[in-house]
Amino acid sequence: MCGIIGYIGSNVASQILTEGLKRLEYRGYDSVGIAVLDNSSLEIRKDIGMVDEVSTALQFTNVNGHIGLGHTRWATHGSVCRENSHPHFDSSKKIVAAHNGVIENFSKLRDDLLSKGHKFVSDTDSELIPHLIEEHAKDSNLLKAFIKSVLEIQGSYAIVALSSADSEERLFLARKNSPLIIGVGQGEMFCASDISAMLKHTKTFVPLEEGDIAILTKTGYKVYSVDGSEVQRKQITVDWNEDIAQKGGYSHFMLKEIHDQKHFINESLATDVTEAKKLIGEYEKIHVLGCGTSYHAGLILAHLLPDKNIHAFIASDYPFVAKPDEKTLIIAISQSGETADILQALRFAKNSSKIAITNTVESTITRICDITVYLNSGPEIGVAATKTFTSQLAVIFKLAREKPVGLSAIIEKMIEKENEIKAIAAKLAGSEHAFFLARGLNVPIANEGSLKFKEITYIHSEAYPGGELKHGTLSLITDGTPIIALAPKDETVIKLLGNIKEAKARGGLIISLTNDDNVKEESDFVIGLPDIEVSLYPFALIVPLQLLAYHVSVLRGINPDRPRNLAKSVTVE
Ligand code: F6R
Repeated sequence: MCGIIGYIGSNVASQILTEGLKRLEYRGYDSVGIAVLDNSSLEIRKDIGMVDEVSTALQFTNVNGHIGLGHTRWATHGSVCRENSHPHFDSSKKIVAAHNGVIENFSKLRDDLLSKGHKFVSDTDSELIPHLIEEHAKDSNLLKAFIKSVLEIQGSYAIVALSSADSEERLFLARKNSPLIIGVGQGEMFCASDISAMLKHTKTFVPLEEGDIAILTKTGYKVYSVDGSEVQRKQITVDWNEDIAQKGGYSHFMLKEIHDQKHFINESLATDVTEAKKLIGEYEKIHVLGCGTSYHAGLILAHLLPDKNIHAFIASDYPFVAKPDEKTLIIAISQSGETADILQALRFAKNSSKIAITNTVESTITRICDITVYLNSGPEIGVAATKTFTSQLAVIFKLAREKPVGLSAIIEKMIEKENEIKAIAAKLAGSEHAFFLARGLNVPIANEGSLKFKEITYIHSEAYPGGELKHGTLSLITDGTPIIALAPKDETVIKLLGNIKEAKARGGLIISLTNDDNVKEESDFVIGLPDIEVSLYPFALIVPLQLLAYHVSVLRGINPDRPRNLAKSVTVE
């Protein structure tokens, strides 16, 4: 939630910040802003809207200066308005800061500052950060003032700050429960919430650890622990090409990422699962944790290990419904590795061994868990998870069974049906509701298809095991209600056929994903499935569901990469 970026060097900071913010926009897109220091003049430009829109209107790139910071917001504290957008000034307008996270002791800190004469212009918790620094700088040097301020904050934060009153040009950084990564350049330094925002400039990174404080100068960086002592942090090098973080000729990142699945699936299958597999073999009781799409992958994992005492949990609810102990193995699935709900669930399961399945190198989840299995899907920019879900499935199959074969070809075959799917999308674009039906192993895929559909089309949709329809939902099926049936020729198809007939008898418009002739006969539209090994149908089913959601979204005039109210990395509970 929220993207944050900083630059110090010899190039025009405003250009680098604006480009980087475009890469970070998937993290939040309510408002955007930059602050740049030019000699002693510190200027903020910010407003509500998307990066392209605001940066053009306010001419971000006309701001001179070689040091600055930027922010793209997903509102948590205070409405979406210019005043609440970041960066924020202190009272003297000499200190600026941008913040990602939530300050839990906000009221107390703000009251203290108000009593000392500070005036606030926004409703955000973040605005108090430059004021806190200002207050502490009255009797400390800036680094000490920054550290004292950070120590007072309870909650989560990634902070970038700078001061025009600083004796040298420096950016001040801090992180706790929100990602912040340093990018190491030649005579210039960067920081951002995510590697992809810096990929154009460097491939060398230093992920900050929980509680770290850092300063960046043109020529280097120093990392400090909260007691002010300097600490060393690991440098990593990534071999990602900047093209991965570009649309590459596709109209949206989501479409590119759906198409990319046929390549990345092989990278994911190459991931090393040896240690994780061994650990799974040692435990009988397994809790799988995830949120949203990652939870759906977790449901599949639970299906694939029927001989274990295994259960998939929605991470945000985990502390209320489970009692993990030292005999419980936790498998935590999170593409970002930064989702607050899953991190709190992992901290709750303090006595259990933990495996992380994530796409994000050095993310917080990798530090909490004993073993990490990487998805190797490359950066996913579209807010809706697509290629990382398929990668999660591939890794899960490899963990629970043998390495599956032929996945790339299956995915490619389904992508070839894009034009047919687009034609079906046109029939659904005016709908108000849609229902996704499946049985058995295919139910989590129906859940995922339905989530994808509702989040980017804004059409209400629900997914059910087919048998549940007659227990209530059937009353919602009237003439033309879309029913998307996941009906591959496996052990579920006969029973699902019955459910399809029930829906059809009530006027349902049947769109089936099937290779079964009887289902085809009952269907208004068919997306054909190949005849494949039955356990691999989830891979064939998910691709057309992603494409269907994508094309309905575009037909409804929505930007599928940036659905309203959402953000890619959900770092608040
Ligand atoms: C939906 C989607 C979300 C995420 C969820 C968890 O398309 O992307 O439901 O799956 O927010 O995110 P991660 O996997 O990063 O923990």
